[in-house]
Amino acid sequence: MIRLGTDDVDLARAAALLEQGLLVAVPTETVYGLAADAGNVDAVRRIFVAKGRPADHPLIVHLPGIDALDDWAVEIPEAARRLAGRFWPGPLTLVLKKKAGVSETLTGGQSTVGLRVPGHPVTLKLLERFGRAIAAPSANRFGHISPTTADHVVDEFHGEETVAAIIDGGPCTVGVESTIIDLSGEFPRVLRPGMIGAEQLAEVLGATPDTAGRDEGPRASGRLASHYAPKTPLLLVSADGLIRPRPDAAVLALAGTVDPGGFACWRVLPDDPVAYARGLYAALRELDALDAGCILVQRPPETLSWAAVVDRLRRAAA
Ligand code: TXA
Ligand code: MG
Repeated sequence: MIRLGTDDVDLARAAALLEQGLLVAVPTETVYGLAADAGNVDAVRRIFVAKGRPADHPLIVHLPGIDALDDWAVEIPEAARRLAGRFWPGPLTLVLKKKAGVSETLTGGQSTVGLRVPGHPVTLKLLERFGRAIAAPSANRFGHISPTTADHVVDEFHGEETVAAIIDGGPCTVGVESTIIDLSGEFPRVLRPGMIGAEQLAEVLGATPDTAGRDEGPRASGRLASHYAPKTPLLLVSADGLIRPRPDAAVLALAGTVDPGGFACWRVLPDDPVAYARGLYAALRELDALDAGCILVQRPPETLSWAAVVDRLRRAAA
């Protein structure tokens, strides 16, 4: 895997690799993605192989701009255009009815397709240069924690021949995967919570969208109960669960909670959902690498602004 920078020469190299049907890991504002030419079925298949991802888990297509919506979807509701207009480029994926020519390899056999314009300047430039859409799931092996730095991607895929390059665009600023909203049915439904929350969506939609239950609706790997999981067993605990020291446990605490000492590690993330989300996956990877007996994560508040973080922590704990 070659490591590329973000200048024009390196982006041209990345575009050429995509053109050849190879995989290139790219930075996005949410997490790093493992990209392939979305119009090349063989290249798209390589993503599934490299990740060890089941064939029925659809990929998100990253578009160069809002104008490309109509190349991929049909029967696009007005609400979808309004959401795209408000939040793209940005961490929102729209699930829409797919256009006839869109490959079912890409959509995991479904009649819908997930679409977004990523809000990362480097990948937007790459998309502009490449001129077409790229399919990109999070750049981790299936079921692992999503990567938020180039080093995380290297840890996941070193030695994997089909992953030709990684573009190092620095740490991701959002830190958890995009909000996914399904607009292919009668009512909008949030399939995966993200940092664009229900309140922001409601401002555009005029009503709060439904939230999909865990096991209903289209298959979405990000919705499997056990996902985003470290190898070390992870438990969600209250502040009271962190009063008694445990030398076998690594702790991820909220800022402001007192470290009584006596834990294998005491790592702190800010008591603010935006900053917490940004640091979450890197912290989980660090704690996982300690090979502690367990990871104790202090449960964040159950308020709306923490919804995406709480969702990921619950899955990591499952
Ligand atoms: O922030 C993100 O969305 C990142 C970056 C790289 O863009 N991508 C990402 O991709 O998280 P992935 O493949 O790890 O998760 C995509 C999720 C999966 O849960 C998938 O099942 C769901 O999107 N998805 C994609 N297309 C879908 C569809 N047509 N219907 C329902 N779910 C869909
Ligand atoms: Mg993923």
